[in-house]
Amino acid sequence: MRKAMVAVLAVMTLGACKPLDDAMVAVFGRSMRDQRTFDPYEQPEGAPVNSVAFAAGNWPAAPGEVNIGQPESVSIPYFTQFDLGVPGIGGEAVQRLENPLSWDDPASLERGEEIYLRFCVVCHGPDGVGANAYIAELHPLLPTYNLSGAQVAGYSDAYLYAMVRVGRGLMPEYGSRITHFDRWNVVNYVRQLQRQAGTLPDQAEAPAPEDDR
Ligand code: HEC
Repeated sequence: MRKAMVAVLAVMTLGACKPLDDAMVAVFGRSMRDQRTFDPYEQPEGAPVNSVAFAAGNWPAAPGEVNIGQPESVSIPYFTQFDLGVPGIGGEAVQRLENPLSWDDPASLERGEEIYLRFCVVCHGPDGVGANAYIAELHPLLPTYNLSGAQVAGYSDAYLYAMVRVGRGLMPEYGSRITHFDRWNVVNYVRQLQRQAGTLPDQAEAPAPEDDR
């Protein structure tokens, strides 16, 4: 008798949600169960093409301030992960991109650090070495992608920018969260990490500031 009671209680408690939900559906047409939420670690859909990152701000930088938004009246070419092409070099669309900022611009580096610490550090570690990343134990492959190592130091600025924008393989895209100029700022910051690690091939070749692309 007691066993039967326990069984009935168990069914009532464990199974309670479902019939209640069903009753809600019968009354309201839907229940809390059908929510448009993401499961933990579910890869959300990418942002629509040409959408502007939240709070991007389509205004030019004030004099003496670093630009953190989108460029004025310049259309940024559309490309996807398929255009990434050869690692480090990039496909045609990527190769045409030029870093509008200087590697040595202190304002850009400061902003780049802020972005890096906000978005990249969890997977790539504070110094760009994946082995020092906070989640390295969970993802044993991460340490092989060393942002301050010689290999990535040999990648073009354009390729780094493109990777941040569209992602690659297991790395998610950040184009919908990091604006155009901030992507370049973070590229410059990655260069600084490489310089600190002593892997940057030729620091004399730092690109000079150009148009406001
Ligand atoms: C969620 C974890 C994660 C975050 C956050 C992340 N990455 Fe990555 N990153 C990866 C993974 C995984 C790879 C390897 C990609 C692949 O499969 O090819 C990678 C690869 C790279 C590479 C290429 C390295 C190589 O050896 O070819 C660069 C450059 C890079 N990431 C830069 C960045 C930058 C800059 C940021 C911040 C805007 C960032 N990543 C944020 C996970 C991440």
